[in-house]
Amino acid sequence: MGDIACAVDDLSPGESLVITIDGRKVTVVRDLEGGFHAIDDACPHVGWPLNKGSVHPDAVIECSLHHGLWCLRTGEPRRYPARTPATVHAVEVRDGQVWVSLGD
Ligand code: FES
Repeated sequence: MGDIACAVDDLSPGESLVITIDGRKVTVVRDLEGGFHAIDDACPHVGWPLNKGSVHPDAVIECSLHHGLWCLRTGEPRRYPARTPATVHAVEVRDGQVWVSLGD
């Protein structure tokens, strides 16, 4: 299932990296509780790279341009100017690797 994004040990809590799957840039994030998430790199607001954002407790990412907040689990917008849901992708941790499957 999916593509290998990185090794589990490549990311500490609060860190992210960008991968490209089928020409699509995806940010892989390790949340502050240790879980892994994958979200389209382009912010739904005006497209700023979400990999430049910061990670908040309870799996939330803050865009560094206008400070919108999105849930990394569901893509749900959490704070203005976030209005449009972000696209998130399925993540599985297997054999020490983080796998990402595109959601659409
Ligand atoms: S570009 Fe991300 S909140 Fe505006």
